[in-house]
Amino acid sequence: MTQLKWWQKAVFYQIYPRSFADGNGDGIGDFPGMIERLDYLQDLGIDAVWLSPHYASPQVDCGYDVSDYTDVAPEYGTLADFQRFLDGAHQRGMRVILDWVLNHTSDQHPWFIESRSSRDNPRRDWYVWRDGKDGGPPNNWVSPFGGPAWEFDPVTGQYYYHFFFKEQPDLNWRNPQVKQAMFDAVRLWLDRGVDGFRLDAVGTIFEDPALTDHDVRLSQLELYCAGQKARSEQEKKGVRKQMKMLYKQQVERPKVHELMRELRAVVDEYPDCVLVGENEHIAYYGDGSDELHLVFNFPLMRTDRLTPEWVRANQEERLASLPAPAWPCNTLGNHDASRAYSHFGDGQNDAAIARLSLALMLTLRGTPFLYNGEEIGMTDYLLQDVRQFRDNLGVWFYQLETESLGTPPQEAAQRAARLGRDKTRTPMQWSDAPNAGFSPAGVQMWLPVNPNYAQGVNVASQVADRDSLLSFYRRLLHARRQAPALIVGDYMPLHEDAQDYLAFLRRLDGGKTCLVVLNMSDRAHTLRFDLQADLARLIFSSQARESEWHDVRRLRIAPFEVYIAELKRE
Ligand code: NOJ
Repeated sequence: MTQLKWWQKAVFYQIYPRSFADGNGDGIGDFPGMIERLDYLQDLGIDAVWLSPHYASPQVDCGYDVSDYTDVAPEYGTLADFQRFLDGAHQRGMRVILDWVLNHTSDQHPWFIESRSSRDNPRRDWYVWRDGKDGGPPNNWVSPFGGPAWEFDPVTGQYYYHFFFKEQPDLNWRNPQVKQAMFDAVRLWLDRGVDGFRLDAVGTIFEDPALTDHDVRLSQLELYCAGQKARSEQEKKGVRKQMKMLYKQQVERPKVHELMRELRAVVDEYPDCVLVGENEHIAYYGDGSDELHLVFNFPLMRTDRLTPEWVRANQEERLASLPAPAWPCNTLGNHDASRAYSHFGDGQNDAAIARLSLALMLTLRGTPFLYNGEEIGMTDYLLQDVRQFRDNLGVWFYQLETESLGTPPQEAAQRAARLGRDKTRTPMQWSDAPNAGFSPAGVQMWLPVNPNYAQGVNVASQVADRDSLLSFYRRLLHARRQAPALIVGDYMPLHEDAQDYLAFLRRLDGGKTCLVVLNMSDRAHTLRFDLQADLARLIFSSQARESEWHDVRRLRIAPFEVYIAELKRE
C-alpha cells in the first residue's frame, strides 16, 4: 500500500467549473465558489479533483477552446483565486489536476491570429494550413463536430484543419516551436503546484501527413441517420464502427506515442505528478511506465445496463491487456456523456442502481473518476428551447435535423437536447432554494437548473438524510479508505455464471482480502462461497445487517445489496 502512488489510491472528482459553484452571484461558477465548497469535497471523501478547463476562452466549446494557456477565464476569477483554490485543496489533503487541451487552441488565441495573418508569418506553421484541391478543401475529411474538417481562410487563400469546431484550429505538433511553447505552459502550471493533467482528445493530435481521403461510402449525414435509427446494441456498435472508419486518417497516428513519452519526461521533472489520457487505448500506457499513468476504461460505459456479465467481460479483457506496471482507471460519467443516474437507470430502480454503480467504481481494481453532481443523483436535463442551448454540438444537431432532414423544430430540439451535452452540464444543485442555491434568486444562470432540485435532488436536503444517495457516497468513500485490499488487491471473479449479481475478491498478498457482492437484481440470494476462510467481517453494506461476522458458505444477500466484507485471516 505504501509503495503505491497517491493517484493509485485516490478517488478523483471532476469539477465542471462553469456549473459547480457560483461565488459572485453572476450565474456562472467560479473559483470563489469552488473555494467555498472545498470543505464539502473533503467531507465527501474524495482525494483529488480534475478541473475541466478554467483558462481564458471564448467558450465556443465551453472552455475546450483555449485563448490563453497561462491565465484564468475572467468570469472564473483571477490567478490569485486559482492559487487560493489550489492551496486550499492541498491544505485539506486533496490533489488537483488540470485539463490540458493540446490538440487545438481557440481561433482567438494570439498564436492563431498571427498564424492566419499572412502566409509568411513566423507562426504560420504552428497550425495545419493546406491549399485546396479542385476548388474545394484539401481532402474529404470531416469533423465529428459538424461538416468538413477544413475551413477556408480568404485572407491568405488557404484552408486550415480543425478536428473539432472551426473555432478550434488544430495545432501543428510536428513543429518543434509548438511543442516548446506548450511544454513551457505545462511547466508553468506545474510550477504553480498542480498535481498533473487530464489530457484532452489525445488521439486527435496527429493526422495522416499524406492527407489520404477516407474511404467510407456513407456520408456523415447518412451515418448520423443510421445512428438515430439503430436500436439494438449490435446496430449501435455497427454505426460506431463506420464512424470510426470515417475519422481513420485523422486519429490515433503512431507518432502520438513519441509525443506522450516526451510529455511524460516533462512531467517527470516534477515529483509525483500524474497524466490521465482522454482515451481508452491501452497503447497510451506505453510500456507501463513511459507514457500516461492512467487511461480511461471507457468501454465499461458503453452499455445501457451494467449487468454482471457485462462488467465481468469488461474486466477480463481490460485487466488482461494492461502492461505489467500499468494501473486501471474507471469511470461512468463525465461532461460529455449522459449522467450516470439517467444512463444506467432502468426507470424503476434508479436509486438502487446508482448505489451499485458507485460501489462498482469504488471496488473494481483501478482509480475511479466521479463526476460532480452524481453524488446527489443529478439526472440529464433536456432543454426544450434551442435558444437555451450552450453546447454548440447540440446546436449543430438541431441545424442538421431542421435544415438537412426537415424535422419539425420541436422534435428536432428534443433530439438535439438528447444528443447534445448541456443535459449533463446544468448547475450543481446545492439546496432547494430558488436556482437550487447555485446562484441568488432572480439571477439568470448560464444554463437553466434542473427543476428536480426541489424534489430532494440537492446537497442540503441529502446531507441531513442518513438514507440519501449523498450519505451513501460519503459512507462508501470513507469505507474504501479503511480497506487497503479494495485499493491495492488483485481482482478475482467468483461465481462467473451468475446473472443477477457480481461477486469477486480483491486479494492482498499477506494482507486482508475483500469479498465484494453487488446484487444487481431485485431478487434475494443465499450464496455459497468456498474460500480460504469461512468467516468474513462486514466493511460495508447498503442494508442494515445485524451481525458483524458472516459465514460466506451461506451468505444471504438482499435485492440490490452492496456487500463488502473482509475475509478472516486463517
Ligand atoms: C473532449 C472534451 O471532453 C470535450 O468536451 C471537447 O468538446 C473535445 N474534447 C474538444 O476539446
